[in-house]
Amino acid sequence: MPDRHRPSVEYRAHLDGLTPAHLTGFFAGWPNPPSPETHLELLRGSDLALVAFDLDADHAAGYITALTDGVLSAYIPLLEVLPAYRGQGIGSQLVGRLLATVSPLYTVSLHCDVDVEPFYARLGLRPLGGMALQDYAHQCGRHGERGSLDRRTGAPQRPS
Ligand SMILES: CC(C)(COP(=O)(O)OP(=O)(O)OC[C@H]1O[C@@H](n2cnc3c(N)ncnc32)[C@H](O)[C@@H]1OP(=O)(O)O)[C@@H](O)C(=O)NCCC(=O)NCCS
Repeated sequence: MPDRHRPSVEYRAHLDGLTPAHLTGFFAGWPNPPSPETHLELLRGSDLALVAFDLDADHAAGYITALTDGVLSAYIPLLEVLPAYRGQGIGSQLVGRLLATVSPLYTVSLHCDVDVEPFYARLGLRPLGGMALQDYAHQCGRHGERGSLDRRTGAPQRPS
């Protein structure tokens, strides 16, 4: 019997019919978040994008993206489950399905905050050093720079 308190989530490996209206509320807590339109653009630009779609709400509940050479390596730039849907296994499903899709590869890597490491460790990943350049002025996408943000930290810049 279906659990009526749980959303009816469908895991989609395609973006057919997905519109910006299905993608509101993501990038929670980002100082300079991409718009839903830019979100759709980055999903389309990814080598792989999986979407957990709540059929009842007609809205995405989560998504994951990957960039890959298809031979040795894949990188997971983004994974997010909307706050209201967390703790129901959706994030684990997205990672598991993506790993199953890209494997076998030599390496699948990502960057994450230390507090999220236990989540990935349960799924078989382990800590490995990494380096990155980050430009917060372009966190919302290369088309929509908000010049009032510090490029390195994302903090609003004080007028000089
Ligand atoms: C990380 C994230 C994707 C997990 O999604 P989710 O759907 O809540 O994950 P699941 O329900 O599959 O969680 C599986 C387990 O991992 C644990 N877990 C989830 N998020 C965690 C976190 N941030 N830190 C530690 N453990 C976490 C859960 O408690 C759960 O354990 P349990 O079964 O013992 O309760 C989600 O919290 C999220 O979108 N966070 C904000 C964006 C983010 O950090 N993305 C990763 C960037 S690399």
